[in-house]
Amino acid sequence: MTSRQIALVTGASRGLGRSTALALAHRGVRVVVTYREDAQGADDTVRVITGAGGDALAMPLDIGDVDSFAAFGAELVEQLRARWNTENLDILVNNAGIGIFAPLAEVTTATFDAVVNTNFRGTFFLVQALVPHIPAGGRIINVSTSLTRHASPGTSVYSASKAALEVLTRSLAIELGARGIRINAVAPGPSATDFNGGAMRDAPELRNNLAAQTALGRVGEPDEIGDAIAALASDDMRWVTAERIEVSGGSLI
Ligand SMILES: NC(=O)c1ccc[n+]([C@@H]2O[C@H](COP(=O)([O-])OP(=O)(O)OC[C@H]3O[C@@H](n4cnc5c(N)ncnc54)[C@H](OP(=O)(O)O)[C@@H]3O)[C@@H](O)[C@H]2O)c1
Repeated sequence: MTSRQIALVTGASRGLGRSTALALAHRGVRVVVTYREDAQGADDTVRVITGAGGDALAMPLDIGDVDSFAAFGAELVEQLRARWNTENLDILVNNAGIGIFAPLAEVTTATFDAVVNTNFRGTFFLVQALVPHIPAGGRIINVSTSLTRHASPGTSVYSASKAALEVLTRSLAIELGARGIRINAVAPGPSATDFNGGAMRDAPELRNNLAAQTALGRVGEPDEIGDAIAALASDDMRWVTAERIEVSGGSLI
């Protein structure tokens, strides 16, 4: 991977998106850090990258607002031209996502739509909007979850939205493969971030229960997911497409 490559990571203001942005930057990739509302978090991500000698910029992007993607694409091209004299992206990491966990009877149309619109619909249309800017050799990574492989109460809508993303990944691998673009899904296991109210990080009982379900005996740290995504994005993995790679420390095997 050369220092000329450019990645866009959605939801990189914190958590796994931030760790992915940092891991890519560590490998010499320039990064467009997008965020929904946490501008300060995105600026912090940029600051850490530039402080370590890397190059990054931050842009707002609500993945649930598909109607904004055309304007976002135009602004992105402006930024890429002004900053790095290009209109192209080499790597797109679709990390932004939400989890709303509730049993069947408590799922509302509002929560259902929020999860599906963010995790699946928004990601689909963002790929559609940005793929004209991804040349041959480009790669796309969709962030899924280990919950598409094993079941857990109250996770139906979240898991199904991510399962849809995985099927999308395989389907698009055929369409995009013809253009020399590879696309894969990374499926993290429980990881210590703000996700689900920070439960995997801050709720000792849940954390210990989840840790006991993994072969390696703990929940994941954000850097362990970011490094895996950056590795999958690297040229060392250039013959890998249409795959789902789980990064869960061997959860519920
Ligand atoms: N943590 C885990 O245990 C775990 C396990 C499996 C999969 N995952 C998946 O990994 C991804 C990242 O999770 P995380 O743990 O890093 O979560 P997190 O700490 O809650 O961070 C979520 C990130 O997504 C952004 N985001 C949320 N809704 C958005 C929207 N509508 N448009 C744009 N950005 C949006 C947030 O932006 P703001 O900061 O601006 O709100 C934030 O940067 C998600 O797709 C999640 O489903 C997480």
